[in-house]
Amino acid sequence: MATKTVTCTVNGKERSYEIDVRSSLSDMLRGNAGLQSIKHGCDVGECGACTVLINGQPFNSCIYLAVWAQGKEILTLEGLSDPKGAISDIQQAFIDEGAVQCGFCTPGFIMSSIPIIESETPMDRSEIKRQISGNLCRCTGYEKIVDAIEKTQKKRIEERKQHTAN
Ligand code: FES
Ligand code: FES
Repeated sequence: MATKTVTCTVNGKERSYEIDVRSSLSDMLRGNAGLQSIKHGCDVGECGACTVLINGQPFNSCIYLAVWAQGKEILTLEGLSDPKGAISDIQQAFIDEGAVQCGFCTPGFIMSSIPIIESETPMDRSEIKRQISGNLCRCTGYEKIVDAIEKTQKKRIEERKQHTAN
């Protein structure tokens, strides 16, 4: 087995992992880094359960080779909590809106929603649906997921306006 050391930033901290060169990023993050939010759903890039942000963009980590992560910034669901462990607004919105049932898809949906809620450009529901179209859920019927993202998007826009006004 050929191995390689991959050094990258994971949830704000530089880390190095010794990996099999054939490993996927999802294998490295779950197996080497112990980040259990990354789910193995289909493992072929179809369901989005393994979505993480790489340099700010959502990717299916099951079809992204771990060696490609060298020097990159990776953000997973675990990285959304504040230093005291309090969950983020988008996570709370998923709870409040009832957007979680079995929860298997939830980390992936939340990671795909980060560029939406951080965008300066407001997105309507159809655009939100388009942005999360790579994520599949077998339980919720999607509407509550879109509600949670839309609600958090509006909250963030309001916060940015207030920040600019102050
Ligand atoms: S597990 Fe990666 S897309 Fe399904
Ligand atoms: S909540 Fe069960 S798959 Fe989405």
